[in-house]
Amino acid sequence: MELVPLLCLSLLTLSGSTFADENGAVLVAVEEKSDAILPCSFSSKKNITSMVFDWKKDGHMEVFLYDSGTHYNNGRAGQDEQFKGRVFHFKDELKNGNASIKITNTKMADNGSYTCIFPNQQTSQVTLFVGPDSERFVLTS
Ligand SMILES: *[C@@H]1O[C@H](CO)[C@@H](O)[C@H](O)[C@H]1NC(C)=O
Ligand SMILES: *[C@@H]1O[C@H](CO)[C@@H](O)[C@H](O)[C@H]1NC(C)=O
Ligand SMILES: *[C@@H]1O[C@H](CO)[C@@H](O)[C@H](O)[C@H]1NC(C)=O
Repeated sequence: MELVPLLCLSLLTLSGSTFADENGAVLVAVEEKSDAILPCSFSSKKNITSMVFDWKKDGHMEVFLYDSGTHYNNGRAGQDEQFKGRVFHFKDELKNGNASIKITNTKMADNGSYTCIFPNQQTSQVTLFVGPDSERFVLTS
């Protein structure tokens, strides 16, 4: 009986939190149906407006591809069905080298490992925890 409010509190506290584990890997924990921002920046912070970056999930699913202004929300084909209409980049941040994305209305199926790729230049990894497991992960680590 005591456990339920405790778990709720811990979920609320962790909603939308971003932190790094002991290896420096980025972890993002959100509740199901909320929004998650997956961070990624080009190392030199240079203007990436005319560059390409690609976000993949678990190494193979197409989450978000940006190519000098074209992307999945303005006509580009190839996005995985799971992410259609739910993933957005931050246009005003591109000039600062910021290739972060927002995944809206997160589902349990979004849980997993995401890679932000600047082809032939740089890749980085973000782990997304969706739902009750986000709290379990923290309590057991
Ligand atoms: C960033 O690059 C785009 C495209 O090359 C250019 O139009 C824009 O003015 C640049 N912005 C800044 C702040 O340098
Ligand atoms: C990139 O943009 C997102 C969305 O505005 C923001 O939350 C994040 O802090 C930015 N990252 C950096 C390194 O400025
Ligand atoms: C989410 O991913 C973590 C780490 O891979 C795993 O431990 C957990 O069971 C997953 N949760 C769900 C709901 O798939």
